[in-house]
Amino acid sequence: MTQAIGVFDSGVGGLTVVRELRQRFPREEIHYLGDTARVPYGTKSPRTVERYALTCQEFLLAKQVKLVMVACNTASANALPALQKRAEVPVIGAVHPGALAALEASETRHIAVLGTLGTVRSGAYEAAIRERDPSAKVVTRACPLFVPLAEEGWGTTDIAELTARRYLSELFEADHKIDTIVLGCTHYPLLREVVAKVSEELCSSPVRIVDSAAAMVSQAAEYLNAPTANSEAAKGALHCFVTDASRMEELAPRFLGETLDSLELVDL
Ligand code: DGL
Repeated sequence: MTQAIGVFDSGVGGLTVVRELRQRFPREEIHYLGDTARVPYGTKSPRTVERYALTCQEFLLAKQVKLVMVACNTASANALPALQKRAEVPVIGAVHPGALAALEASETRHIAVLGTLGTVRSGAYEAAIRERDPSAKVVTRACPLFVPLAEEGWGTTDIAELTARRYLSELFEADHKIDTIVLGCTHYPLLREVVAKVSEELCSSPVRIVDSAAAMVSQAAEYLNAPTANSEAAKGALHCFVTDASRMEELAPRFLGETLDSLELVDL
């Protein structure tokens, strides 16, 4: 199928999902929308996030995409049912794949979820995890400083380490049986190494890090390995759209691992 995949996020973070997608499905054409004029979503109310997310999806549906990927945990946590209701194509969020991956990884069934305030307040990860395993223990922590650190390119610095230690020590103090941490925000894969290092220091046994970006691409794989996969192009094009273009070109390579071929400013 030659139709493209639509991916959206509040800003640049969703490019971590696009990166995974392009590694696993290089032939797929992708329309990526970053709602950079309205970022962050993580501090906004559920109603506002839902309203913004619906306009992002509408933009992608108008491009006749075959699949929508909500590459924003905050939007997935607060707006997925509304998004799915309004689309005739499959809509994949970040929360359920992340929750599933966490349960696959965890042995103690004590799981920590790191995300934005909006994701944490929604309780969506707890619900998704406990729906599958009611005995699982879930602790959540909003890590708002991780987003600017990732954008600044400081995700592997001593400042990131100090910040992670502050957030994670509270978590491990509250529950020392945690063996799995979910990076429940599309920016956080840029701090993965630091989160792994600090958790190892704080916890005597190994801690697994689950990345919701990778988990949602695994869920998309179920769909893309079917006849809907694009077998025509050698390398699928990536069309990038933003609602404000001020820092996108500079920030995108950090999240995407490559420079952008095209960038278009749009008004939703
Ligand atoms: N993309 C958001 C998420 O994954 C983080 C940035 C924001 O707050 O908008 O939750």
